[in-house]
Amino acid sequence: MARRKMVAGNWKMNMTPENAVSLIKTLIPLVQNEDVDVAFCVPDLDIIPCLEAVKGTNIGIGSQNMYFEEKGAFTGEIAPDMLTSVGVEYVILGHSERRSFFAENDETVNKKVLKAFEHNITPIICCGETLKQRKQGITLDLIRMQIKIAFYNVSPENAKKAVIAYEPIWAIGTGVGARTDQAQEVCKAIRDCIEEIYGDLVAKEIRILYGGSVNASNAHDLLNQPDIDGGLVGGASLKVDFGKIVNYDKIQTESN
Ligand code: 13P
Repeated sequence: MARRKMVAGNWKMNMTPENAVSLIKTLIPLVQNEDVDVAFCVPDLDIIPCLEAVKGTNIGIGSQNMYFEEKGAFTGEIAPDMLTSVGVEYVILGHSERRSFFAENDETVNKKVLKAFEHNITPIICCGETLKQRKQGITLDLIRMQIKIAFYNVSPENAKKAVIAYEPIWAIGTGVGARTDQAQEVCKAIRDCIEEIYGDLVAKEIRILYGGSVNASNAHDLLNQPDIDGGLVGGASLKVDFGKIVNYDKIQTESN
């Protein structure tokens, strides 16, 4: 079975609820592509109004983080059932901004991944290297380690439902994305790593996205790579350009 493409927007810390609804309403007609799953991962306060705004469409709403406990004295955190009770389908876990600014690490990512599956939330699990690590030649080793720890104790039935996002840190928000061959190389290495852990069937089914300065000009080439199943889009998901990324298959480029 061919993997369905997915394009998810990560709004990061942008958009008041009012602005969020207005942006969603602008984007709904632009993100229609029956071959692509579309989701917006929005700030938690925007979740409920955004869910209202996407009612009747096939757009999913996700959170950008979630805690690995059920409830209790964890000031400032959000629990899985708070998300599922209102209809959240996805959660981004282990984004590099959470790792670098909020002390997230591979172990906490793993706990959150396990908890997300317990609650039937699809995790979008992020991994990626710094420029220094790339220059040191350790990109693939590092990514394999991030993936192996994130998936520790995750069953094959759950693993195949996960979404992985390869986001090289040097490509995030810089306007300089990875070249298609660089993105494809790492996404393939991730799929090979999943195959090593779970075998061929899970590796064929799991979706691997690329993220880092995805825009309307590079989406077509990136999303046509054999191991890239879509994009996790930051800055461009706040603009009408997001519609062009979702419709990457209709963009005409020199290569088609
Ligand atoms: P940009 O698309 O703004 O580079 O951000 C990518 C990202 O971090 C998505 O999670």
